[in-house]
Amino acid sequence: MNPASRLSLLKPSPIRAITDGTPPGAIPLGLGEPTWDLPEVGRKALLRASGPCPYVPHAGLTELRRAVGAFHGAHLDEVLITTGSQGALFALFQAWVNPGTKVLVPDPGFVAYPALAFMAGAEPVPYRLSAERFRLDADELIRVLEATPETSAVVLNLPSNPTGGGGDLDALRRVAEACTARGVLLISDEVYRDLHFGVRAPSLRDVTDRGVVTSSVSKGWGAPGLRVGWAVGDPAWLAPARVVHGYAVTGTATPAQWAALALLEHSDAVLAEARAAVQLRWEALASALREELGQVVTPPDGTFYHFMALPPAAHADPLAFALKLRDEAKVVLIPGLAFGEGGRGHARLSFAATPEQLREGVRRLAPYWKA
Ligand SMILES: Cc1ncc(COP(=O)(O)O)c(C=O)c1O
Repeated sequence: MNPASRLSLLKPSPIRAITDGTPPGAIPLGLGEPTWDLPEVGRKALLRASGPCPYVPHAGLTELRRAVGAFHGAHLDEVLITTGSQGALFALFQAWVNPGTKVLVPDPGFVAYPALAFMAGAEPVPYRLSAERFRLDADELIRVLEATPETSAVVLNLPSNPTGGGGDLDALRRVAEACTARGVLLISDEVYRDLHFGVRAPSLRDVTDRGVVTSSVSKGWGAPGLRVGWAVGDPAWLAPARVVHGYAVTGTATPAQWAALALLEHSDAVLAEARAAVQLRWEALASALREELGQVVTPPDGTFYHFMALPPAAHADPLAFALKLRDEAKVVLIPGLAFGEGGRGHARLSFAATPEQLREGVRRLAPYWKA
């Protein structure tokens, strides 16, 4: 039996290669999900559910679309509710990326982007982030875009998984203009935007309403298991994506949309609490790195990822090094190489873990950095 040929380049997520087979007692600093409780307003909305549990329109629950629109400064018609932001990305790629075309993706970048390109029959083309702090480098992205005339879509992710690097308004504006001039779909994945340290990263919507922003309740609102996300942008880009998403899953679970609505209605408090939880964890990580390794680190622009430089000896085979950490030190980290060649010298450490786990994790890792 052979799966469909268009899947021939699709490989299982390299993150799973590390996290599957995690030994008992290992400290999980690999996966990127909040470890704090679902905010009370979301939990109550789930418990309150009574009466029928109907399908909702393919574009999503109207009240939720309105709330998402208000959050992003968009009209109801510019909002499509999806099954996580991953559902939005999938639907947009299927709707707009032709087989044989190319999709520009950040390197290092979220592992799903190249996979989504392959599933659409397209080829992912990496563009590097800035050498310093892994932020959006507009010159580099535009250079790659100009060298790649077959580009159908460009993906941005500010702040970035796995690096936590953001980008400035001018860089965003220049990239948006370059994409608009070529009629290329620009997708700005902003799932981590509200988990910022200091200044919040700019949104694509600050510079144009012609691209598409994707986001979800999974990170800032602390509810990845609800599987509620959205795409916000020009209704012309959203219309075929809505058809794809409708045929793929009909719609995201109705009670999950009720809970997401409650979370969105309390965004100010929910997001402030999430930032406080992330700040607390960052401080635990930063002080453990200082005490155990003498490292003085600065927080990322946003996210709950620390992109940690690997010891030089690990650069040749970062996967083997990560497996050794997993099996010997019993700490799970993701080698940066899993996110692209640009991540080879680093590992992603998720500080969404508890402060105790972070302190103990760094204590266990320290001998491998000192060796
Ligand atoms: C950069 C980025 N985009 C999108 C997603 C998908 O998240 P969700 O489908 O839960 O919104 C993730 C999940 O880790 C992510 O890191």
